[in-house]
Amino acid sequence: MTEERVPIIAFVWRPGEISPPVSEMAQHTGSRAIFDLSTMGAEALHSFLQKADPVGHVSDIKISASALMNPSVGRLLKETGARNLWVECQSHFSPGDPSAFLKRLRTLSEDYRCFPIVGEMPLLAAMVKEGSGIGRIVLKGCEAAGFVSGETTLVLYSTVKEMLHASAKSLDVLIWGGVSTPEAAAAFLSTGAAGIVFESVHWLTDLVVMDDPQRQQLARLRMDSTALVGLDLQVPCRLFNKGNSLAFKKIRAFEEALCAAEITDESRHAFVDQVQASALHPLDSHFTQSEVIPLGSEAAFAASFAERFGPGTGKAVNAFMAEMRNLCGKAEAKRYCFLDSPVAREMGIKYPFIQGAMSSITETPEFASEIADAGGLPTIALGLMDAQACDRRLVRLPEIMGGRPYAVNVVSLAENPFRESHLAWIKQHRPRFVWIAGGDLSP
Ligand SMILES: Cc1cc2nc3c(=O)[nH]c(=O)nc-3n(C[C@H](O)[C@H](O)[C@H](O)COP(=O)(O)O)c2cc1C
Repeated sequence: MTEERVPIIAFVWRPGEISPPVSEMAQHTGSRAIFDLSTMGAEALHSFLQKADPVGHVSDIKISASALMNPSVGRLLKETGARNLWVECQSHFSPGDPSAFLKRLRTLSEDYRCFPIVGEMPLLAAMVKEGSGIGRIVLKGCEAAGFVSGETTLVLYSTVKEMLHASAKSLDVLIWGGVSTPEAAAAFLSTGAAGIVFESVHWLTDLVVMDDPQRQQLARLRMDSTALVGLDLQVPCRLFNKGNSLAFKKIRAFEEALCAAEITDESRHAFVDQVQASALHPLDSHFTQSEVIPLGSEAAFAASFAERFGPGTGKAVNAFMAEMRNLCGKAEAKRYCFLDSPVAREMGIKYPFIQGAMSSITETPEFASEIADAGGLPTIALGLMDAQACDRRLVRLPEIMGGRPYAVNVVSLAENPFRESHLAWIKQHRPRFVWIAGGDLSP
């Protein structure tokens, strides 16, 4: 099918929200309404759509991986208006050989635009590979709701860009969830993203139906009202948790019990099944401690979205998109705004960016060199390295840095048993910058 080049801006809706006002709002604003039908099998979503949307206005639906794999789905959906299929591709949803899944996507792409939603690196790599037949991917980072990637959206995005650069393949890259402001959306769009899907930022506008207590709970959500579980099993899942969710605690305890034995595909599936069996859509919940609620960090921005852009969905989406376009229009002029900064010049670096110290991570000269090559100031974290480790790991630092500036970060607290040897190392090597992570330099 031919591609349109205008960025895709989409908002996710529940099946019960299929209605003329939502479709008209999408049409008037130039956004898309994606109806999430991923709890339905192929037959069920066909009969549901025939009833809920007899005129075929609904063009974008999210379906499950198992519905996608159903050989009848292509034929069944032809009788509906759905032409854009968004599907979550996580290995625990579609066990077995990913090549069968890729083949299915290719086959369905003859009649539909398929939007595979991905967060797992091996699957991403397979899709980005030359000859994969995949023309677009939708990145779902760990900020989004429910089962997510172990990586943040920005890490996924830059990794895919690097993969694409290396393979010279062209592919549309979209973002699913975790983007909450026109500023963030514009940053992705002006660096080449082909679209953004918003899971929940519109929830406090008037086309989203909920009761008053839900509205109040939603308006009170904060950035730290969600948390990840399942990381140790490698099936990360973001759920509502203000720190006191009993349901979250129970799922974490289940994960710990599974991790006590050898981690297998079966234990991962047991975890996924347990979460799915008890999960409630946030807007069907009341954000209580006993409910399992898949929720992305974006939901915490629903209140500021309605406040900034208005309570009417259509007007708010219009204003949001206008601001996004306005910011994208200014992007080119801002492109070089960090160059030629007096502070960077004084520090001897290209950009006024300092890489944060991370103990046990940013402690090799090679890493520091890459940061310097990219124009930032590298920071070596001395962390809790003993004197021998410092000498061993940092022996080639002066040679590798070749006179380029770098910083060293020292934990100058009594809790650091190697403080004295760190201070001695600093006196001996005299790095251009030293950051003190805590404490002071008094003897
Ligand atoms: C794994 C890890 C180790 C860190 N170690 C140090 C450290 O040794 N010294 C320090 O000053 N900050 C340390 N930090 C803090 C980071 O430098 C940074 O300030 C913090 O992660 C906030 O930045 P961010 O929001 O970009 O992650 C560490 C952070 C992480 C995630």
